[in-house]
Amino acid sequence: GQIASEPGPLAGKRVLITAGGTREPLDPVRFLGNRSSGKQGIALARAAAAAGAEVELIAAHIEVAIPDGIKSSSVETALDLREATLEAAARSDVVIMAAAVADFRPAEVTDSKIKKRDDAADPVITLVRNPDILVEVVQQRGTDGTPLIVGFAAETGDDRGNVLDYALSKLERKGCDLLVLNRVGRHLVFGQDETEITVLARSGAEPQSHRGSKDSAAATVIERIVAELSG
Ligand code: CTP
Ligand code: CA
Repeated sequence: GQIASEPGPLAGKRVLITAGGTREPLDPVRFLGNRSSGKQGIALARAAAAAGAEVELIAAHIEVAIPDGIKSSSVETALDLREATLEAAARSDVVIMAAAVADFRPAEVTDSKIKKRDDAADPVITLVRNPDILVEVVQQRGTDGTPLIVGFAAETGDDRGNVLDYALSKLERKGCDLLVLNRVGRHLVFGQDETEITVLARSGAEPQSHRGSKDSAAATVIERIVAELSG
């Protein structure tokens, strides 16, 4: 069921949140996935509901329970997530793209389980690009600037650049209003309760960093959203 609207800075606002990580099938029993647990997305859903929003969650394989009273649906692949997100975004005031979307999917999905064979070469998996859902939500946005669109960037940094540079160019490339930067690694962020984020804004507001629980990080993101909505 739908959560009863509470008074708060997001009262009357519809907030769409994507959470978790997509799974891209290879055959009926196997998939390519990622380490997203959905914890950050669920924390955002809770924080938005606490701020009075009417929350809609699209969950792509999350490892944590969905709080009572949050309207939700589940999807498997990036293509499923795209369809559900574009549809729901059209009736939302805010879209938060916290889901880890597979950049690629196997070019072919076999109907039967891939078997080892002694008389044939080992399989090679060819990948094709998935559409960029965040960019499509930005393209679908109305001329009045609705919905406000929030992207996430999980960055590790590498020898070609540091995390902040990557995030700033991602904000530019995606065209979203806010971008939440997460520094990630094998043991950082994914599945953990603590996180370190930096919120970047297209409006030119100063980047805002926060370190703490995923719940307090979510509260920081929601506060920034409220600030953006109020001009
Ligand atoms: N995203 C999306 N659709 C995709 C890939 C990503 O909507 N096919 C969204 C994510 O939900 C996130 C944001 O885009 O909000 C940034 O995702 P990220 O993986 O950091 O960016 P990419 O553009 O995929 O770049 P990279 O090559 O660094 O993975
Ligand atoms: Ca990506």
